[in-house]
Amino acid sequence: MTSRGSAPPSLPRHVAIIMDGNGRWANLRGLPRVEGHRMGVRAVRAVVECARELRISCLTLYAFSLENWGRPEPEVLALMTLLKEFLVSELSLLLRHRIRLRVIGETSSLPFAVRKVLERTVSATAGNTEMTLTLGLSYAGRNEIVRAARRLAAEAAEGKIAPEEITEEMFSARLDTAGTPDPDLVIRTSGELRISNFLLWQSAYAEFAFTDVLWPDFGKAEFLQALEEYSRRHRRFGLTGEQAAKLPGK
Ligand code: IPE
Ligand code: IPE
Ligand code: MG
Repeated sequence: MTSRGSAPPSLPRHVAIIMDGNGRWANLRGLPRVEGHRMGVRAVRAVVECARELRISCLTLYAFSLENWGRPEPEVLALMTLLKEFLVSELSLLLRHRIRLRVIGETSSLPFAVRKVLERTVSATAGNTEMTLTLGLSYAGRNEIVRAARRLAAEAAEGKIAPEEITEEMFSARLDTAGTPDPDLVIRTSGELRISNFLLWQSAYAEFAFTDVLWPDFGKAEFLQALEEYSRRHRRFGLTGEQAAKLPGK
């Protein structure tokens, strides 16, 4: 599902962020890594508010990857505690700004207490329509693709669908992100130039913005800078510049 085609585009409809660099932020200050994660939560709050003010309709944040389970247990536990605290403390912000919370990832692996508070927050905000905030939790793009493939295979085995009739739209509809437009802009902080298993299917035609800023230092100014960079891009979706200029959304 390609979102809109515009050259140059103005404001992205969907921004996705790989929030990286919390550990290095803490190391630079001689603090434990968890302090970096704590400051990272503050950055999340600032970016959510900024996206909402700008009327961006979807914001997806990569908060914890499936691979991150391999980190030392105390760090994983601290991240889970911070997540629970964030969900409890930010409910009022989500309700006040009419933001709907969604989760993508293999959430069955999350601790029971985290799943409970997630379920509560998702259902309390389900009717909100101003913005969708999606958290990638225990998320990995390949894992999501495999789970979608399993669903399609099961449906085919039951005779509900014919394998040769499977389309990209049907595949998208079985991903965790079903119903959300593809990201227009993917931002990664901390100077790393990689995708780290994030939204592999969905970012086929996304624009990328990389910054050396470590996630805890990422704020409104950095967010606006990434949006400004995006507004200068010319998205072509495989077409010529002349054709792309005529795409809907121009
Ligand atoms: C991002 O910061 C947060 C998570 C991946 C959970 P990191 O913890 O990866 O910080 P660095 O990359 O080690 O600096
Ligand atoms: C990507 O950051 C995952 C999140 C931001 C949640 P990592 O720090 O886990 O990625 P790598 O290991 O540097 O690729
Ligand atoms: Mg990292």
